Amino acid sequence: MKFRRTRIVAVASAVALGLGACASGLTGTPESGKTLILSLNQTEEHPSYVALVAFGERLHEATDGRWDVQVYPNETLGAQQEVIQLVSDGSVDMAVASGTQLENLNLEFAVLNLPTTFHSIEHQMDVLSDPEIVGDLFASLEPDKSLTVLGGLTQGERNLYTVKGPIVEPSDLKGMKIRVQESDIAIDMINAMGGSATPMSFGEVYTALQSGVLDGAENNEVSYVTQKHNEVAKYVAFTRHLIGLDYMLINTDVYRGMSDEDRAIFDREWAETMRHHTQLWVEETAAAIASAEETGSKFNEVDQEAFREALSPVVEKYLTSEQDRKLYDEIQRKADQ
Ligand code: GCU
Repeated sequence: MKFRRTRIVAVASAVALGLGACASGLTGTPESGKTLILSLNQTEEHPSYVALVAFGERLHEATDGRWDVQVYPNETLGAQQEVIQLVSDGSVDMAVASGTQLENLNLEFAVLNLPTTFHSIEHQMDVLSDPEIVGDLFASLEPDKSLTVLGGLTQGERNLYTVKGPIVEPSDLKGMKIRVQESDIAIDMINAMGGSATPMSFGEVYTALQSGVLDGAENNEVSYVTQKHNEVAKYVAFTRHLIGLDYMLINTDVYRGMSDEDRAIFDREWAETMRHHTQLWVEETAAAIASAEETGSKFNEVDQEAFREALSPVVEKYLTSEQDRKLYDEIQRKADQ
Protein backbone atom coordinates (compact mmCIF):
# COMPACT_ATOMS: atom_id res chain seq x y z
CA MET A 1 0.00 0.00 0.00
CA LYS A 2 2.70 2.39 1.06
CA PHE A 3 4.59 1.82 -2.15
CA ARG A 4 1.58 2.49 -4.30
CA ARG A 5 0.78 5.73 -2.49
CA THR A 6 4.39 6.87 -2.61
CA ARG A 7 4.57 6.34 -6.30
CA ILE A 8 1.26 7.91 -7.14
CA VAL A 9 1.86 11.02 -5.07
CA ALA A 10 5.41 11.38 -6.30
CA VAL A 11 4.34 11.14 -9.92
CA ALA A 12 1.45 13.51 -9.28
CA SER A 13 3.68 16.13 -7.72
CA ALA A 14 6.30 15.73 -10.41
CA VAL A 15 3.69 16.08 -13.10
CA ALA A 16 2.06 19.02 -11.33
CA LEU A 17 5.44 20.68 -11.38
CA GLY A 18 5.73 19.98 -15.09
CA LEU A 19 8.84 17.91 -14.57
CA GLY A 20 8.07 15.13 -16.99
CA ALA A 21 9.07 12.38 -14.55
CA CYS A 22 10.70 9.37 -16.14
CA ALA A 23 7.48 7.60 -17.06
CA SER A 24 8.73 4.10 -17.75
CA GLY A 25 10.36 3.59 -14.33
CA LEU A 26 7.40 4.98 -12.44
CA THR A 27 5.03 2.20 -13.35
CA GLY A 28 4.90 -1.36 -12.11
CA THR A 29 5.23 -2.87 -8.66
CA PRO A 30 8.29 -2.58 -6.42
CA GLU A 31 9.19 -6.10 -7.42
CA SER A 32 9.09 -5.40 -11.13
CA GLY A 33 10.75 -1.99 -11.07
CA LYS A 34 10.63 1.25 -9.17
CA THR A 35 12.13 4.65 -9.71
CA LEU A 36 13.09 6.31 -6.45
CA ILE A 37 12.25 10.00 -6.47
CA LEU A 38 15.18 11.87 -4.90
CA SER A 39 15.11 15.55 -3.98
CA LEU A 40 18.20 17.75 -4.01
CA ASN A 41 18.53 21.51 -3.54
CA GLN A 42 21.70 21.85 -5.63
CA THR A 43 22.20 22.53 -9.34
CA GLU A 44 23.17 19.97 -12.00
CA GLU A 45 26.78 21.18 -11.79
CA HIS A 46 27.11 20.30 -8.09
CA PRO A 47 29.08 17.12 -7.19
CA SER A 48 26.09 15.77 -5.25
CA TYR A 49 23.96 15.80 -8.39
CA VAL A 50 26.71 14.17 -10.44
CA ALA A 51 27.35 11.44 -7.84
CA LEU A 52 23.65 10.74 -7.31
CA VAL A 53 22.88 10.41 -11.00
CA ALA A 54 25.78 7.95 -11.27
CA PHE A 55 24.34 6.12 -8.22
CA GLY A 56 21.02 5.70 -10.05
CA GLU A 57 22.72 4.37 -13.15
CA ARG A 58 24.74 1.81 -11.21
CA LEU A 59 21.71 0.74 -9.17
CA HIS A 60 19.66 0.27 -12.33
CA GLU A 61 22.32 -1.89 -13.89
CA ALA A 62 23.15 -3.94 -10.81
CA THR A 63 19.47 -4.74 -10.11
CA ASP A 64 18.70 -5.51 -13.76
CA GLY A 65 16.37 -2.54 -13.88
CA ARG A 66 14.39 -3.38 -10.75
CA TRP A 67 15.43 -0.10 -9.09
CA ASP A 68 16.33 3.28 -10.45
CA VAL A 69 16.79 6.79 -9.09
CA GLN A 70 15.43 10.01 -10.54
CA VAL A 71 17.19 13.04 -9.06
CA TYR A 72 15.21 16.31 -8.95
CA PRO A 73 17.73 19.14 -8.44
CA ASN A 74 17.27 22.88 -7.75
CA GLU A 75 14.66 22.53 -4.99
CA THR A 76 12.06 21.62 -7.65
CA LEU A 77 10.29 19.35 -5.16
CA GLY A 78 10.65 21.95 -2.40
CA ALA A 79 13.16 23.38 0.06
CA GLN A 80 14.81 20.88 2.42
CA GLN A 81 12.53 21.57 5.38
CA GLU A 82 9.40 20.80 3.33
CA VAL A 83 10.89 17.85 1.48
CA ILE A 84 11.88 16.07 4.69
CA GLN A 85 8.19 16.05 5.53
CA LEU A 86 7.39 14.60 2.09
CA VAL A 87 9.91 11.78 2.59
CA SER A 88 8.48 11.16 6.03
CA ASP A 89 4.93 10.77 4.70
CA GLY A 90 6.10 8.73 1.72
CA SER A 91 5.28 11.22 -1.07
CA VAL A 92 8.94 11.49 -2.02
CA ASP A 93 11.29 8.52 -1.57
CA MET A 94 14.64 10.11 -0.82
CA ALA A 95 16.17 13.50 -0.09
CA VAL A 96 19.49 15.10 0.66
CA ALA A 97 19.16 17.26 3.77
CA SER A 98 21.66 19.35 5.62
CA GLY A 99 22.59 18.29 9.16
CA THR A 100 21.04 21.48 10.45
CA GLN A 101 17.62 20.24 9.34
CA LEU A 102 18.00 16.97 11.24
CA GLU A 103 19.07 18.85 14.34
CA ASN A 104 15.51 20.22 14.30
CA LEU A 105 14.10 16.66 14.48
CA ASN A 106 16.51 15.17 17.01
CA LEU A 107 18.81 17.52 18.88
CA GLU A 108 21.51 14.86 19.13
CA PHE A 109 22.31 15.45 15.45
CA ALA A 110 23.56 18.85 16.61
CA VAL A 111 26.76 17.20 17.84
CA LEU A 112 27.73 16.60 14.21
CA ASN A 113 26.91 20.20 13.26
CA LEU A 114 29.29 21.89 15.63
CA PRO A 115 32.48 23.72 14.79
CA THR A 116 35.44 21.48 15.83
CA THR A 117 33.48 18.17 15.53
CA PHE A 118 35.22 17.08 12.34
CA HIS A 119 38.92 17.64 11.74
CA SER A 120 38.90 16.80 8.05
CA ILE A 121 36.61 15.40 5.38
CA GLU A 122 38.37 12.06 5.77
CA HIS A 123 37.64 12.05 9.49
CA GLN A 124 34.00 12.92 8.80
CA MET A 125 33.64 10.07 6.31
CA ASP A 126 35.29 7.62 8.71
CA VAL A 127 32.77 8.57 11.38
CA LEU A 128 29.83 8.20 9.00
CA SER A 129 30.92 4.71 8.06
CA ASP A 130 31.23 3.55 11.67
CA PRO A 131 27.91 2.07 12.86
CA GLU A 132 29.20 1.89 16.42
CA ILE A 133 29.33 5.67 16.50
CA VAL A 134 26.39 6.70 14.34
CA GLY A 135 24.18 3.57 14.16
CA ASP A 136 21.70 4.55 16.88
CA LEU A 137 21.59 8.16 15.79
CA PHE A 138 20.89 7.21 12.18
CA ALA A 139 18.03 4.90 13.23
CA SER A 140 16.56 7.41 15.68
CA LEU A 141 14.07 8.96 13.25
CA GLU A 142 12.63 5.66 12.04
CA PRO A 143 9.92 5.00 14.66
CA ASP A 144 8.25 8.41 14.65
CA LYS A 145 9.16 9.87 11.29
CA SER A 146 9.74 6.87 9.00
CA LEU A 147 13.05 8.44 8.01
CA THR A 148 16.11 6.24 7.62
CA VAL A 149 19.48 7.97 7.47
CA LEU A 150 21.73 6.10 5.07
CA GLY A 151 24.87 8.14 5.58
CA GLY A 152 26.01 11.39 4.14
CA LEU A 153 27.87 13.57 1.70
CA THR A 154 30.34 16.14 2.87
CA GLN A 155 29.63 19.84 2.60
CA GLY A 156 33.33 20.52 3.02
CA GLU A 157 34.61 23.51 4.93
CA ARG A 158 32.17 26.36 5.28
CA ASN A 159 33.46 29.92 4.93
CA LEU A 160 32.02 33.39 5.14
CA TYR A 161 31.38 35.56 2.12
CA THR A 162 30.27 39.14 2.06
CA VAL A 163 29.26 41.87 -0.34
CA LYS A 164 31.74 44.27 1.31
CA GLY A 165 35.03 43.17 2.75
CA PRO A 166 37.51 41.83 3.48
CA ILE A 167 36.60 40.12 6.77
CA VAL A 168 39.67 39.29 8.86
CA GLU A 169 38.57 39.66 12.49
CA PRO A 170 35.23 38.96 14.20
CA SER A 171 34.83 42.72 14.72
CA ASP A 172 34.74 43.20 10.92
CA LEU A 173 31.34 41.48 10.92
CA LYS A 174 29.75 43.97 13.27
CA GLY A 175 26.26 44.92 12.09
CA MET A 176 26.43 42.65 9.04
CA LYS A 177 23.38 40.52 8.28
CA ILE A 178 24.69 37.08 7.46
CA ARG A 179 22.42 34.34 6.15
CA VAL A 180 22.49 31.08 8.06
CA GLN A 181 20.65 27.78 7.72
CA GLU A 182 17.47 27.43 9.77
CA SER A 183 19.07 26.09 12.95
CA ASP A 184 19.85 27.34 16.44
CA ILE A 185 23.50 26.33 16.19
CA ALA A 186 23.92 28.17 12.91
CA ILE A 187 22.35 31.29 14.43
CA ASP A 188 24.48 31.14 17.58
CA MET A 189 27.57 30.50 15.51
CA ILE A 190 27.31 33.60 13.32
CA ASN A 191 26.29 35.79 16.24
CA ALA A 192 29.33 34.53 18.17
CA MET A 193 31.53 35.24 15.16
CA GLY A 194 30.46 38.89 15.34
CA GLY A 195 27.71 39.06 12.71
CA SER A 196 23.96 39.30 12.88
CA ALA A 197 22.50 35.91 11.92
CA THR A 198 19.58 35.81 9.48
CA PRO A 199 18.07 32.33 8.98
CA MET A 200 16.73 31.74 5.47
CA SER A 201 16.23 28.83 3.10
CA PHE A 202 19.00 28.13 0.61
CA GLY A 203 17.12 29.09 -2.56
CA GLU A 204 16.37 32.61 -1.33
CA VAL A 205 19.97 33.64 -0.67
CA TYR A 206 20.98 34.92 -4.11
CA THR A 207 18.18 37.46 -4.35
CA ALA A 208 18.64 38.53 -0.74
CA LEU A 209 22.33 39.19 -1.33
CA GLN A 210 21.62 41.00 -4.55
CA SER A 211 18.91 43.23 -3.09
CA GLY A 212 20.87 44.15 0.02
CA VAL A 213 18.61 42.27 2.45
CA LEU A 214 21.77 40.36 3.38
CA ASP A 215 25.37 41.53 3.71
CA GLY A 216 26.75 38.04 3.40
CA ALA A 217 26.32 34.30 3.85
CA GLU A 218 28.37 31.27 4.75
CA ASN A 219 28.85 28.14 2.71
CA ASN A 220 31.42 25.99 0.95
CA GLU A 221 33.16 27.21 -2.20
CA VAL A 222 31.26 24.78 -4.40
CA SER A 223 27.81 26.09 -3.48
CA TYR A 224 29.17 29.64 -3.50
CA VAL A 225 29.86 29.19 -7.21
CA THR A 226 27.09 26.78 -8.30
CA GLN A 227 24.48 29.05 -6.66
CA LYS A 228 26.19 32.03 -8.36
CA HIS A 229 26.58 33.82 -5.02
CA ASN A 230 30.02 34.83 -6.30
CA GLU A 231 28.28 37.22 -8.68
CA VAL A 232 26.92 39.27 -5.76
CA ALA A 233 29.30 38.67 -2.82
CA LYS A 234 32.92 39.01 -3.88
CA TYR A 235 34.77 38.70 -0.56
CA VAL A 236 35.43 35.21 0.78
CA ALA A 237 37.04 34.88 4.19
CA PHE A 238 38.53 31.46 4.89
CA THR A 239 37.03 31.12 8.36
CA ARG A 240 36.70 27.34 7.89
CA HIS A 241 34.33 27.50 10.84
CA LEU A 242 33.06 23.97 10.39
CA ILE A 243 32.97 20.97 8.08
CA GLY A 244 29.32 20.57 7.18
CA LEU A 245 27.40 17.43 6.39
CA ASP A 246 24.47 16.53 4.16
CA TYR A 247 22.53 13.38 5.02
CA MET A 248 20.85 10.98 2.66
CA LEU A 249 17.35 10.21 3.85
CA ILE A 250 15.08 7.47 2.57
CA ASN A 251 11.54 6.64 3.62
CA THR A 252 11.88 3.72 6.02
CA ASP A 253 9.04 1.67 4.45
CA VAL A 254 10.58 2.05 1.01
CA TYR A 255 13.97 0.96 2.29
CA ARG A 256 12.60 -2.01 4.22
CA GLY A 257 10.32 -2.92 1.32
CA MET A 258 13.29 -3.85 -0.86
CA SER A 259 14.15 -7.53 -1.12
CA ASP A 260 17.21 -8.48 0.92
CA GLU A 261 19.17 -8.98 -2.25
CA ASP A 262 18.24 -5.59 -3.68
CA ARG A 263 18.83 -3.80 -0.38
CA ALA A 264 22.33 -5.28 -0.26
CA ILE A 265 23.02 -3.98 -3.77
CA PHE A 266 21.52 -0.64 -2.86
CA ASP A 267 23.74 -0.37 0.26
CA ARG A 268 26.84 -1.32 -1.70
CA GLU A 269 26.17 1.26 -4.41
CA TRP A 270 25.34 3.91 -1.84
CA ALA A 271 28.66 3.28 -0.05
CA GLU A 272 30.38 3.67 -3.41
CA THR A 273 28.47 6.92 -3.95
CA MET A 274 29.85 8.36 -0.72
CA ARG A 275 33.39 7.58 -1.92
CA HIS A 276 32.73 8.93 -5.40
CA HIS A 277 31.29 12.14 -3.96
CA THR A 278 34.26 12.73 -1.67
CA GLN A 279 36.63 12.39 -4.58
CA LEU A 280 34.58 14.77 -6.73
CA TRP A 281 34.36 17.17 -3.81
CA VAL A 282 38.09 17.75 -3.57
CA GLU A 283 38.40 18.35 -7.32
CA GLU A 284 35.36 20.60 -7.53
CA THR A 285 36.38 22.74 -4.56
CA ALA A 286 39.66 23.62 -6.25
CA ALA A 287 37.83 24.28 -9.53
CA ALA A 288 35.26 26.51 -7.79
CA ILE A 289 37.95 28.67 -6.17
CA ALA A 290 39.76 29.06 -9.49
CA SER A 291 36.60 29.99 -11.35
CA ALA A 292 35.49 32.48 -8.67
CA GLU A 293 38.92 34.13 -8.71
CA GLU A 294 38.72 34.47 -12.47
CA THR A 295 35.46 36.37 -12.13
CA GLY A 296 36.81 38.76 -9.51
CA SER A 297 36.25 37.10 -6.11
CA LYS A 298 38.85 37.87 -3.47
CA PHE A 299 39.78 35.11 -1.03
CA ASN A 300 41.62 35.92 2.20
CA GLU A 301 42.86 34.16 5.32
CA VAL A 302 41.51 35.34 8.69
CA ASP A 303 42.65 35.55 12.28
CA GLN A 304 41.85 31.87 12.93
CA GLU A 305 42.62 32.09 16.62
CA ALA A 306 40.16 34.94 17.17
CA PHE A 307 37.35 33.10 15.39
CA ARG A 308 38.11 29.83 17.19
CA GLU A 309 37.96 31.58 20.53
CA ALA A 310 34.68 33.25 19.62
CA LEU A 311 33.18 29.89 18.68
CA SER A 312 34.28 27.84 21.65
CA PRO A 313 31.28 28.82 23.89
CA VAL A 314 28.93 27.66 21.11
CA VAL A 315 30.50 24.20 21.13
CA GLU A 316 30.17 24.00 24.91
CA LYS A 317 26.59 25.24 24.85
CA TYR A 318 25.44 22.33 22.70
CA LEU A 319 27.32 19.57 24.51
CA THR A 320 25.04 19.58 27.51
CA SER A 321 23.84 16.00 27.98
CA GLU A 322 26.06 13.09 28.87
CA GLN A 323 24.96 11.36 25.68
CA ASP A 324 26.01 14.31 23.49
CA ARG A 325 29.38 14.54 25.20
CA LYS A 326 29.91 10.79 24.73
CA LEU A 327 29.11 11.00 21.03
CA TYR A 328 31.39 14.01 20.60
CA ASP A 329 34.25 12.24 22.41
CA GLU A 330 33.83 9.08 20.33
CA ILE A 331 34.03 11.19 17.19
CA GLN A 332 37.18 12.89 18.47
CA ARG A 333 38.78 9.51 19.23
CA LYS A 334 38.10 8.38 15.68
CA ALA A 335 40.31 11.23 14.44
CA ASP A 336 43.31 9.71 16.23
CA GLN A 337 42.90 6.23 14.81
C1 GCU B 1 25.24 23.43 1.46
C2 GCU B 1 24.60 22.10 1.68
C3 GCU B 1 23.08 22.17 1.53
C4 GCU B 1 22.51 23.28 2.37
C5 GCU B 1 23.21 24.57 2.04
C6 GCU B 1 22.69 25.73 2.88
O1 GCU B 1 25.19 23.80 0.11
O2 GCU B 1 25.14 21.15 0.81
O3 GCU B 1 22.48 20.97 1.89
O4 GCU B 1 21.14 23.41 2.14
O5 GCU B 1 24.60 24.43 2.25
O6 GCU B 1 23.48 26.53 3.33
O7 GCU B 1 21.47 25.83 3.06
